[in-house]
Amino acid sequence: MNENNRVALVTGSSSGIGAVLTEALLSAGWTVVGIARRTIRFDHPDYEHVMLDLSDLASLKTIGESRLAPILSNSQWTRVALINNAAVPGAYKTVAESDPQQLAQVFAVNTIAPVYLMGLALRSVAPEIWLRIVNISSGAAGMGIAGLGDYGSSKAALRVAGLSLAAELDAIKGSAGDERKTAILSYEPGVVDTPMQTAARSADPETFPSSGFFQELSKKGALQPPEAVIGDIIEFLNANSKESFVERRFGVL
Ligand SMILES: NC(=O)c1ccc[n+]([C@@H]2O[C@H](COP(=O)([O-])OP(=O)(O)OC[C@H]3O[C@@H](n4cnc5c(N)ncnc54)[C@H](OP(=O)(O)O)[C@@H]3O)[C@@H](O)[C@H]2O)c1
Repeated sequence: MNENNRVALVTGSSSGIGAVLTEALLSAGWTVVGIARRTIRFDHPDYEHVMLDLSDLASLKTIGESRLAPILSNSQWTRVALINNAAVPGAYKTVAESDPQQLAQVFAVNTIAPVYLMGLALRSVAPEIWLRIVNISSGAAGMGIAGLGDYGSSKAALRVAGLSLAAELDAIKGSAGDERKTAILSYEPGVVDTPMQTAARSADPETFPSSGFFQELSKKGALQPPEAVIGDIIEFLNANSKESFVERRFGVL
């Protein structure tokens, strides 16, 4: 590790929004620890890669406690960020076709791992250090989209876990000795041109009722490049806001 004083843990640093965000943070002088299954490495001295399948919950806990917690608790940081960005899109099937093991896989990556990482960050980062947590959400978390029941409900659960953490922080605010500088952003990036959108467009229309909707989004040029949607996230990471929970959607003030 280097002499920087800001560190960001970015899950899903190997692709799409996570990769572009990682590059931007490195350029801005942050140290970045990235998590993904792929062995991708950024050609930057301040990047450390953790190869991990977030659905492997036993390994997540082992690596979390043995490798991530010591990084997060390092006294060199004045600001620590956790960006829960990694996600899987789900099976692109109707609720009627749900498979319990597929559901468990989606919830492990999209809900359980990020909730665990929020807790790990809270336990590891000293109260006087700025801790910024970003949970990447989705429009599908707030409305029913046919064929996205697994994905949408996993994102809705993550949003509510962030709200619950904020309520827990608010409950101890003002109590003796509590100086915690933690804030959580639930962020909807809109429709972004990444492999996740390609997968939605390519899903089998026989089993995925919304495939035409995603094809149409692409045809009418509604997709944003990932570079366009990371500004709100970076702004939040650098801010000293003390409001425990904020929610934003790309393009909406
Ligand atoms: N694209 C959109 O239109 C859109 C819209 C709303 C919300 N979002 C959200 O934005 C975030 C980023 O998505 P994206 O569009 O950038 O998708 P993406 O390009 O498919 O990237 C997904 C990332 O998650 C990682 N990941 C997936 N499963 C993993 C696992 N089991 N263990 C570790 N890492 C895993 C992938 O890395 P590996 O494959 O290397 O493991 C990859 O880096 C997600 O939370 C997504 O739900 C996207």
